[in-house]
Amino acid sequence: MCGIVGYVGQADRAGRDYVALDVVLEGLRRLEYRGYDSAGVALVHDSGVHWRKKAGKVAALEAEIAARPLPEAVVGIGHTRWATHGGPTDANAHPHVVAGGKLAVVHNGIIENFAELKADLMAKGFSFLSETDTEVAASVLADQLASAGDLTEAMRRTCMLLDGAFTLLAVHADFPERIVAARRNSPLVIGVGEDEYFLGSDVSGFIDYTKDAVEMDNDQIVTITPSGYQIIDFSGGVAEGKPFRVEWDAAAAEKGGFDSFMEKEIHDQPAAVRDTLMGRLDENGKLTLDELRIDESILRSIDKIIVIACGTAAYSGQVARYAIEHWCRIPTEVELAHEFRYRDPIVNEKTLVVAVSQSGETMDTLMAVRHAREQGAKVIAICNTHGATIPRESDAIIYTHAGPEIAVASTKAFLAQITASYLLGLYLAQLRGNMFADEVNRVLDELRAIPEKIAEVLAHEDQIKDLGTAMGETTSVLFLGRHVGYPVALEGALKLKEIAYIHAEGFAAGELKHGPIALVEEGQPVFIIVPSPRGRDSLHAKVVSNIQEVRARGAVTIVIAEEGDTAVEAYANHVIRIPQSPTLMQPLLATVPLQIFAAQVAKSKGYDVDQPRNLAKSVTVE
Ligand code: F6R
Repeated sequence: MCGIVGYVGQADRAGRDYVALDVVLEGLRRLEYRGYDSAGVALVHDSGVHWRKKAGKVAALEAEIAARPLPEAVVGIGHTRWATHGGPTDANAHPHVVAGGKLAVVHNGIIENFAELKADLMAKGFSFLSETDTEVAASVLADQLASAGDLTEAMRRTCMLLDGAFTLLAVHADFPERIVAARRNSPLVIGVGEDEYFLGSDVSGFIDYTKDAVEMDNDQIVTITPSGYQIIDFSGGVAEGKPFRVEWDAAAAEKGGFDSFMEKEIHDQPAAVRDTLMGRLDENGKLTLDELRIDESILRSIDKIIVIACGTAAYSGQVARYAIEHWCRIPTEVELAHEFRYRDPIVNEKTLVVAVSQSGETMDTLMAVRHAREQGAKVIAICNTHGATIPRESDAIIYTHAGPEIAVASTKAFLAQITASYLLGLYLAQLRGNMFADEVNRVLDELRAIPEKIAEVLAHEDQIKDLGTAMGETTSVLFLGRHVGYPVALEGALKLKEIAYIHAEGFAAGELKHGPIALVEEGQPVFIIVPSPRGRDSLHAKVVSNIQEVRARGAVTIVIAEEGDTAVEAYANHVIRIPQSPTLMQPLLATVPLQIFAAQVAKSKGYDVDQPRNLAKSVTVE
């Protein structure tokens, strides 16, 4: 939440055809998915600090700059906001400029003790123009600078006074060639160019300019100048960052000919699953997870798994639970991360916690990870973002290789999360002797067949899109599923709610008769995810009965069923076909039409598919 960029270049820019403003605006456009309530920039010029800020999207800021141009500069910071303290107004937009226009600050996070700090500052004669906690942090920094005399030291002293989560970037007219930035529990990455340095909430903030990046730890401060970067910790000790190279390039963060990032990311899914599966076998064809640096004896001794995550990532955990319990015979729970630590969960050294997060920065999940580790549990992160806070704070990591996910509504990360969780389940089953190598390999083959099957679903997307366009006026949609189809139903409903603003509910199909079926009246659209007729436990027959039950009460039934499953035809108003696959693999296919449907409904209503109202990607507040 909130996107932050910073740039320090050289006055002599031989060979470069851009200035700080270009870099900062490009970074903001790329980070806009993190929040789009307002945007702003501040540049440091010989004549002082110059800034513009505007409520609305980055485009509104660009219009403001076009109307009131800024001077050329080689140092700049920028911000795109998801409002917490104070509404989305021009006054509350960042940067917050204090000290008579000399000091500009942008911030991501929440300063929890801001009211107390504000009262102290007001008693000292400070006044405030906004309702934000950020302006308070900027004023604390100005106050500290008066005694510290140095911007980096003043930032260090400021951080010691702040409670909460923050990434702060500051520029000052008296320190014209530097940006000082601090982070606690909010993301910040350094980009390294040739005689130029960058800061970003994530690497997409500077991916157009460099792929060389440096991770920072929590509670650290970095000072970037045209000649380098220096990191210190909050106690003033010199610290080292961890350099890494970004594996994807700017093209991966473009729409690639699609109207929206979400549509592009839906089409990235065959590659997301394929890439997440890649490189997981050793020379003997045995499943290995290199990043799993937890002692095998510990993994053998665990007696419970708890998956913690939020939103779509939590639904991926719900899918994985069926597979992990089936393959490993380890009791597996799935818990929303924000509920986890408040219920005093039973967690100990024998508990394996799996934290699933696309961004790796979700504050609720991060706090749950910390709580679990404090109780002695080992934590494995399943994450799509290299070097993010959650994997850094976990005992081991399995990276999903979905590439950058820009649309706020998660799609390809979901499929990649299921794939990675399945790999973990198979690995544990193999390690603990629950499955023989040939059984593991059989499942791996089923997984390897999935990318092609997703491509088949995508090849028939027009049918789903037509349905989406026709259902634009619908005000309520229900989704039903059993077994792994149940979390798929929940995910289908979430997609429709978040981007098409349609009331939607996902239900376990068997639960319907215990109450929700009262909602069904003439014309009510109901999606039903039908398991494979070749599966176990008469699951298929039960779901077919559920279709009949809602159909008998006037529902319009949209049935997602395997090719060749003729049993559903008599009760379906619409049948969407997916390739045949074993039940546990079905979520990787059945989710795709639901994503396409939601995107199309949103599009046909003229909504912004990538940036739905009130939301932001990467939820870094609790
Ligand atoms: C929904 C969506 C969210 C995220 C949730 C967790 O489309 O994107 O529900 O899944 O906020 O985010 P991560 O995976 O970054 O922890």
